Order: sequence, then structure tokens, then C-alpha cells
Amino acid sequence: MKKAWKAAMLATFAVGTLVVAGCGSDSTSGSGDLPQVGVAIYKFDDTFMSGVRARIDADAKGKAKVDIVDSQNSQPTQNEKVDLFLNKKYKAIGVNIVDRPAAGGIIDKAKAANVPLVFLNREPLKEDMAKWDKVYYVGAKAEQSGEMQGKILADYFKKHPEAYKSNDNVLHYVLIKGEPGHQDAELRSKYVIESLKKEGIQVQEVAQDTAMWDRVKGQEKMAAFLSSYGDKIDAVIANNDDMALGAIEALKAAGYFQNGKYMPVVGVDATAPAVQALKDGTLLGTVLNNAKKQGDAVFNLMLVLAKGEAPTKENTGFEIVDKQYIWVPYEIVTKENADQILGDK
Ligand code: GAL
Repeated sequence: MKKAWKAAMLATFAVGTLVVAGCGSDSTSGSGDLPQVGVAIYKFDDTFMSGVRARIDADAKGKAKVDIVDSQNSQPTQNEKVDLFLNKKYKAIGVNIVDRPAAGGIIDKAKAANVPLVFLNREPLKEDMAKWDKVYYVGAKAEQSGEMQGKILADYFKKHPEAYKSNDNVLHYVLIKGEPGHQDAELRSKYVIESLKKEGIQVQEVAQDTAMWDRVKGQEKMAAFLSSYGDKIDAVIANNDDMALGAIEALKAAGYFQNGKYMPVVGVDATAPAVQALKDGTLLGTVLNNAKKQGDAVFNLMLVLAKGEAPTKENTGFEIVDKQYIWVPYEIVTKENADQILGDK
């Protein structure tokens, strides 16, 4: 192995290990007087959020020093990380809150220290957002993703009436839910059903359970649904792709996706493995939760705030709604438009 190449390999490996081990990443080297900002992610071990943080890190190169830390799904840990950012006098702080109701306490502290906050992906309650005008939220409208999942399923059942296994024209579904209390879990679950009904599809829930956004838990829950309700299930609605992919594993183990045995499964996020599943014909459809645009919005907002400027559409590249919100739109993704959608983003 040539020496230079070997050194490069080792360096790449070291960086990779740092991220995998869950340490903070720090785009600081050689960036003397760039503004320092910090971001506390709810947990690093989350597929969609890994995409968002990778984008924030990439955006920061040459523009800011960004310290991205893992809150390990613990609110006390996150509070400590934010305290540390405040003690170090970071110029702006991004928070992917662990427990949504805890946002109020963080806002009080940041306000006292006059350090602007950008919440992302997990939306604080309205009354907490109202506590201070230097608090922002970047996210996507959860109800829109639910509506889009409903549309994908409605289209499928209109084209395939034979897919109603009980021959009663009623869609018997199982729902695999994300973390209870998370706006995306609650609203996606509600709006997917409303949208199906609006499309004229009759629905009946066979079973529902939470798999906490997690692929392995999704697989376990689906295996349990299959053993209890087997042939009664017409479709699987998952609040995100990781849980949908877990459900697909359980379905494969039960003989689906071979010899003409099929089950429509829908997710949300359009992660890389989910797009692969779309192409393989196992995942029926998903909804793009745009990690890159959300990362861009968070970073641009933090940079403007760190410089002491007031955010506008011109200096952030995103419309600021109601003075505190940036909404990144969702998009339907199926096998047909997968390459185009992902190529564009
Ligand atoms: C959702 C996303 C999930 C999970 C969750 C974390 O928007 O669809 O996959 O990442 O955020 O808060």
C-alpha cells in the first residue's frame, strides 16, 4: 500500500469512527475567526436525523465552526449539552429537542443569555415559541406527509380492487407508529386515514402499535401483527421508512414479495435504503422528508443569527412564516419518480 494513500485511508477511517462512536463533530480546523455555533441532536442513531446533521456539517465548511453533539435520547443529557454551549458563549444554538415540552426551559436559559435558538424536526409547543422572538423552528408540516401517504395508498387500491383481501371493499390496515407525542407520529397517523377517507376509501384499523421510529422494532411489531391477524391485513402504514423497512423484513420472512404474494407498505422520509426498496418493488411508496433542505435552512438561519442579523428570505434562502417558522415541503416518492426526485434535491 502506498504511504500517502494509506494515510488518507486511516484519516477517513478515523473520521468515520468518530461519527459512528457518537462523538460530536467539529468543523473547526483552521477556521480562526468564524462564528461558533452548536447543535444538539436528539440522538445520533436515527437515520433521517443523520442526513440532516451531515448536511449542517457540510454547509458549515468555511462559513462557521459548528459543534454537533449527541443528546443520546435523554433530555437531562441534552440540557447539559445546551448549558455547555451557553457557557462557551456560542453565537447561536440548534436544538433537536428530545422531549417537546422541555423546550420552554431551554428557551428561558437562552433568552437570559441572549443566544438565539433554532429548533428543528421536533416542534416546540406554540406557547413556548411565543416566549421569545429569537426562537425559530425548521421543520415540515406533518399533516402533509400523512395526506400524501393516504394518496399513494388510495391510488393503489383504486387500481387494484383485488387487493381487498376480505372482498368487502374495506381497507384493513395496520399502523406502525413513531414516538408517541412527536408531532410527526401523531399527525401522520391522523391525516393518512383522513386522506384515505377523502379519497373515498373505506378503512378499518386491524391493529396499531409504536415502533419508536426504529427498524428492528418495526420488524418485531409487524411479525406480531402477522401472527395474530395474518391474512386480514390489506396494507401497512408506517410513520417512517425505517419502520416500513422493518415491516418488509417481517413480511419477507412470512413469504411476501415472492410468488405473487404482495403487501402494499408505505413510509415517510425517502432515505437511501427506502428508495432502494421502492426500486426492488417491496416498498409501495414514501414521502420525501427533505433532510438536505432542512439542514440548509437550519444552518443558514443559525449563521444569520450568529452574525446578529435579522433573518429574511433574502439572507436565509427560505421564507420565514409568522416570523419564527421555516417549513420545508414534503413530496410523494414512488418507483416512477424516485430517481428524478432524489436527483433534484
Ligand atoms: C421524523 C422522521 C423520523 C425520525 C423523527 C425523529 O421527521 O420522519 O424518521 O427521524 O423525525 O424526530
